[in-house]
Amino acid sequence: MTAFSFATAGRIVFGPGASEQVPELVTRWGPRVLVVLGARTDPAAWPGLAGLPSTAVLHRSSGEPTVDGVQEAVDHARQVRPHVVIGWGGGSVIDLAKAVGVLVGGTGSVLDHLEVVGRGLPLPSASVPVVAVPTTAGTGAEVTANSPVLVPEHQVKASLRSRAMLPALAVVDPLLTLTCPPAVTAATGLDALTQCLEAFCSPAANPISDLCARDGLTRAARSLRRAFTDGSDVDARTDLSLAALLSGMALANAKLGAVHGLAAPLGGMLGAPHGELCAAVLAATCEVNVRALTERAPGSPALGRYREVARIVTGNPSAQPDDGVRWVRETVRALRVRPLAALGLTPAGHGSAADGALRASSMAGNPVQLTRDEVLEILVRSS
Ligand SMILES: NC(=O)c1ccc[n+]([C@@H]2O[C@H](COP(=O)([O-])OP(=O)(O)OC[C@H]3O[C@@H](n4cnc5c(N)ncnc54)[C@H](O)[C@@H]3O)[C@@H](O)[C@H]2O)c1
Repeated sequence: MTAFSFATAGRIVFGPGASEQVPELVTRWGPRVLVVLGARTDPAAWPGLAGLPSTAVLHRSSGEPTVDGVQEAVDHARQVRPHVVIGWGGGSVIDLAKAVGVLVGGTGSVLDHLEVVGRGLPLPSASVPVVAVPTTAGTGAEVTANSPVLVPEHQVKASLRSRAMLPALAVVDPLLTLTCPPAVTAATGLDALTQCLEAFCSPAANPISDLCARDGLTRAARSLRRAFTDGSDVDARTDLSLAALLSGMALANAKLGAVHGLAAPLGGMLGAPHGELCAAVLAATCEVNVRALTERAPGSPALGRYREVARIVTGNPSAQPDDGVRWVRETVRALRVRPLAALGLTPAGHGSAADGALRASSMAGNPVQLTRDEVLEILVRSS
C-alpha cells in the first residue's frame, strides 16, 4: 500500500442541535470573538449565536468571497485581534472566516498568498483558531484546508491553501440547514456528491478518504431528492450534512478533478452557484473521463472506481459506468439544475473556460489528463 497522511479539523461535533454548544465550546480560546456571518443571518434566531459573549464582534459578508472582500475582512480583523474566529454560514462564510483566521496575525495581503493568479507565497504557519458552523450541506469547508476566492479581473476563482487553515473545531448541526430553499439544497447537495465522486476517482485517494467518499456517496445518493422535495425531512438533512462533512474530509486528503477544474473559471465567468456549476458538468465529465481512460489507460484503477460509484448511486450491484452517468443526468434534471447555456455561458466563452480549467489546480487530481478538445467537448455537452 502507498504511504499516506490524513488531516482534518481539530475536533468535529456533529448532530441535530449541536450548534447550541458553540458558546460553551469557544470559551477556551479567550474573550475576543470575531463572528463572520452571512449578510441576512439573524443572530437572535439561533441559540448558539445568541449565547455568544456580548463582546463578540460581527463581520457581515454577502456573496462568495472576492479578493477585495477578504482583504476588507482581514483589515477589520487586524483591528479586533480576535482570540477565535467563528464562521457561521454557508461555504462562502466559512471560507472567509478561514482566510481571516490565517491572515489576521501576519502583514501579507490576500494577493500575496493566492495560488494560480496571486504571488502564491506560503501562508503563516499558524492560524487564529477557527470554528466552522455550516448552515448549508455541501462544501465540507468546515474540514478543508483552503478558501476559494473570486478574482474578478481574471474571471477565475483561486484558493488560499495551507494545512494551517484547517478549522480547530467544526460544529455540524443539520437543523441549521432546514431553512435552505430547494435550489440551495440541490446545488449544495450535488456539490457534496461531486466532491465524494472526484476524490474517490482521484489517483491521490487513500484508504481513509475512500471510507469517507463511499459513505458520503451512499448518503447523498439516497437523500438528495428527499431533502429537495421536503426540506423539513430531518433524516434526509442529517444524511446530507454528514455527506458534506465526509466529502470535505475526502477532498482535503485526496484531490478533486476536472469538474472542479472547470468550476474554477466558470465560477469566475458566470457568478452562478458553485454546486450548480459542478452538477451541470458532472455527467459529461464522467463520460469523457471514462472514454479517455478506456482509450489511453485501460489498466487504470479509476475505471473500477467509476464502476463502483455507479453501483453505489444506483443501488444496482451490476451497474456499469454508463448507468452511473445516466443516474447523475436524471438526478441533476430532477433537481432542476440548469445547463451551462442557461447559466450564461455562450459558445464564445468556451475557449477561455477550457484554458482556465486546464490551468486550475484541481485539474491535477483528474484520473486522466484531458486534452483541450475533450474539455471543450464537456462544455458543449453540458450547455
Ligand atoms: N473550502 C472548500 O473546501 C470549498 C469546497 C467547495 C466549495 N467551496 C466554496 O463554497 C462556496 C459555496 O458555498 P455554499 O454552496 O455553501 O453556498 P453559499 O455559502 O454561497 O450560500 C448559498 C446561499 O444560501 C444561503 N444560505 C446559507 N445557509 C442558509 C440556510 N440555512 N437557509 C437559507 N439560506 C441559506 C446564503 O445566504 C446564500 O444566498 C463557493 O464559494 C465555493 O467556491 C469551498
